[in-house]
Amino acid sequence: MTSVLITGVGRDNIGFAAARRIARDAQTLVIADVRPIPEALIAAIRGETSARIVAETVDVASAASIDRLLDVAFEAAPELDGLVNCAGIADPTPPLAITMDAWDRLMTVNLKGTFFVAQGFVQRLLDRGRGGSIVNLSSMAGRTGGKHNGLHYAASKAGVISITKGLARAFGEKGIRVNAVAPGIIDTVMSHNVKGSDDQARNSPLGRWGTIDEVGETIAFLLGPGASYVTGATLDVNGGIV
Ligand SMILES: NC(=O)c1ccc[n+]([C@@H]2O[C@H](COP(=O)([O-])OP(=O)(O)OC[C@H]3O[C@@H](n4cnc5c(N)ncnc54)[C@H](O)[C@@H]3O)[C@@H](O)[C@H]2O)c1
Repeated sequence: MTSVLITGVGRDNIGFAAARRIARDAQTLVIADVRPIPEALIAAIRGETSARIVAETVDVASAASIDRLLDVAFEAAPELDGLVNCAGIADPTPPLAITMDAWDRLMTVNLKGTFFVAQGFVQRLLDRGRGGSIVNLSSMAGRTGGKHNGLHYAASKAGVISITKGLARAFGEKGIRVNAVAPGIIDTVMSHNVKGSDDQARNSPLGRWGTIDEVGETIAFLLGPGASYVTGATLDVNGGIV
């Protein structure tokens, strides 16, 4: 990839690990989150690369905010051809306690947000007559239905697998690849907040939690030229649990 936009780089998380890894090979990296990105995070990414780093805020639940981010990103890096959609929220509410409002919030950020960032990105690639590559963040829960991490969370992540396939089919002939990563129990705040994570990780075939860097490597692979004949795929990064 030449230049890449990554959402969800808000703390020491999967988006941050992806940014650090992708920065090694990128010309410009635009990183964005709903919260202002901490200076220490930006400095840590800069420490890995000579790539230009542009830090922005975005609320992927807002069409206007997505539009603004994409305009800023393509202005800063007209050659932009990579997108990683890491922004997401979790909500471990048990099935019978999920409200319609909580359902809508989850779907708005995780599914609608992922789709509309991708839609705006693809439109801008097409306007420039260029191909590109997108990686979306699904989840092991999207494969299994989840258990302690929220049925609505799992449903949103199953939706991400579907929109990944749909976009791959729609725009493959334009040279745009779209893939997803489905992480399992990764050593992050998000996973530590889910009941039973430690047992599940220890009882997995690899017998341990995954790291953010292991997910970042997989994202970089799917995004980059090594995966040039891969599209519509969802790659499991779950230590063999599923
Ligand atoms: N951590 C895991 O074990 C795990 C497992 C499976 C899937 N995932 C998925 O990977 C992605 C990253 O997870 P993570 O562990 O790094 O979680 P995280 O909570 O650290 O990262 C998500 C980021 O998205 C940002 N965000 C939330 N709402 C937003 C909005 N409306 N607009 C823009 N940004 C917003 C947050 O501020 C945060 O920085 C998520 O999509 C998550 O569902 C994580």
